[in-house]
Amino acid sequence: MTSEIREAARILREGGLVAFPTETVYGLGADARNEAAVARIYKAKGRPPTSPLIVHAADVEMVRTLVKEWPEEAARLVERYWPGPLTLVLKKAADVPDLVTAGLPTVGVRVPNHPVALALIREAGIPVAAPSANRFTQLSPTELRHVDRTLADFVLEGGPAEVGIESTVVSLADGVPVILRPGVIAIEGIAYASPADGAHASPGMHPKHYSPRTRLVLGPPPEAGNGYRMTLPSDPTVAARRLYATLHELDEMNYDWIALDLPPDSPEWAGVRDRLVRAAS
Ligand code: TXA
Ligand code: MG
Repeated sequence: MTSEIREAARILREGGLVAFPTETVYGLGADARNEAAVARIYKAKGRPPTSPLIVHAADVEMVRTLVKEWPEEAARLVERYWPGPLTLVLKKAADVPDLVTAGLPTVGVRVPNHPVALALIREAGIPVAAPSANRFTQLSPTELRHVDRTLADFVLEGGPAEVGIESTVVSLADGVPVILRPGVIAIEGIAYASPADGAHASPGMHPKHYSPRTRLVLGPPPEAGNGYRMTLPSDPTVAARRLYATLHELDEMNYDWIALDLPPDSPEWAGVRDRLVRAAS
């Protein structure tokens, strides 16, 4: 237990905001049970209050204090994927503040697979509501240097994110499991929520999201302007790990455009494709 983690945990318990590493992206955390602290997250990020937050816990026991029921399917999925880049949406416990869930009767929960994140949550002893540690619609931080330090009262370091894109979000709230946001884990036998299916749409999944400042073009590069033709690594896991860091770096070059081809429409590429389409919109 480092003194940084003790200090960060104290700040969380006192209602402050702490940026911390996870295996997916860096998060901007607040005490999930403290409405005033959670309100500061929305304000700092410029995030609309219609976009619910994911609550991070140290273990299944802590997760179960946040939810009304724990279906068999949840137990089955977390056995396989936690700690890890999977968020489950479940019916919320009554005392989870409405601000965390954007007024929804459900809550997104996950146990992250990062030693610093787990040590922080354990030391604080409280569930931690955390979106990515960037301003709304901008690229998520996957390295310490991408973290917008003006957002947080304290920043914990944890190296580059191993996964590199946000967690897969699966809803178990309506009986039949559906994927609301693809990530790096391709779960067999669970379908994607169709965009036409209003009841299943993931709130807060704005079409423009995760965007670099530079114009991103999917497909053939424009003829005019000074741009960069990007190619993705052939392994989807590596591509996800490097995606935001590469876009952060290219953004600093002040190109007129960044162009690349979308990867194949297959389950292993679904997370990367989703982020690219949003970044280009
Ligand atoms: O990997 C991640 O998930 C990262 C790290 C920090 O854990 N967090 C993250 O948070 O990506 P954020 O706020 O950028 O995205 C959270 C998304 C929301 O936009 C929404 O789509 C979904 O999770 N979500 C959260 N709670 C939900 C709920 N009750 N019902 C449906 N979707 C929910
Ligand atoms: Mg985000």
